[in-house]
Amino acid sequence: MTTPLELQSLAVEIAREAGELAAHRRREGVNIAATKSALADIVTEADREVEELVRRRLHEARPGDGFLGEESGGADSETGLTWVVDPIDGTVNYAYGIPAYAVSIAAVQGSADPATWQALAGAVFNPAIDELFVAAHGEGARLVSSIEGERALRVAAEAPAAGALVGTGFGYDPATHAAALDQLATVMPIARDLRRIGAASLDLTAVAAGRLDAYYERGLHPWDMAAGSLIVAEAGGRFAWIPGHPSGRAMTIAATPALFPRLSEILSA
Ligand code: IPD
Ligand code: CA
Repeated sequence: MTTPLELQSLAVEIAREAGELAAHRRREGVNIAATKSALADIVTEADREVEELVRRRLHEARPGDGFLGEESGGADSETGLTWVVDPIDGTVNYAYGIPAYAVSIAAVQGSADPATWQALAGAVFNPAIDELFVAAHGEGARLVSSIEGERALRVAAEAPAAGALVGTGFGYDPATHAAALDQLATVMPIARDLRRIGAASLDLTAVAAGRLDAYYERGLHPWDMAAGSLIVAEAGGRFAWIPGHPSGRAMTIAATPALFPRLSEILSA
């Protein structure tokens, strides 16, 4: 039986290697390989190369495990464990040279469905500023940062009297933007200010690190939030992935325990 901490070690080792490759390619210059669902939804040659590396390394280490990646799709699991991978989360930041992108790798028990999986281990690595966020189920979450050093992750303690610092994101489909902006207007009364970081994995780890009080976004994919959801939970935060919206796009909410009920209530109105 492999422990969550052993899975975490493997995720970390591969996330670091993959992140170095992404940063190296970034320094060489980024080529946009294709646009996907919408004009803003781009894939670079590096996304594909990095995912290939992660997939190959995982297969070498644990050949029977399943895989779900943003760029190369899925493979069924023979072991009951599946790796859920975003090779470069924050691809638009990556393409523009904004240092907020990350490799996100998670091991989940069960199929790659956020409604039923149990996340066991996760690593989110931002190579541009050398920050690594990790968690293993039941073992807590940690930050290893060239800026902050190494520390246990803990969500912010208090509900801030002057309002919460709230992160959000907008899907790439322009048809969803008007509704997203209307919903944002309903959240602003409890917000001190708003952040749109541009990488869901980093929004989630920001909640875990107390850098944001809350984050929500509709329409995330499993690979955007598999590792981040565990990191939030292990840092004492609350995380929910709520399917069932008529649009078919689930709502993701991560927040401090103090803020979570109020934000959930606003977002479900
Ligand atoms: C996107 C980013 C973005 C979020 C989108 C995601 P990608 O992932 O996480 O912040 O708003 O919903 O799809 O395309 O950069 O890997
Ligand atoms: Ca992503």
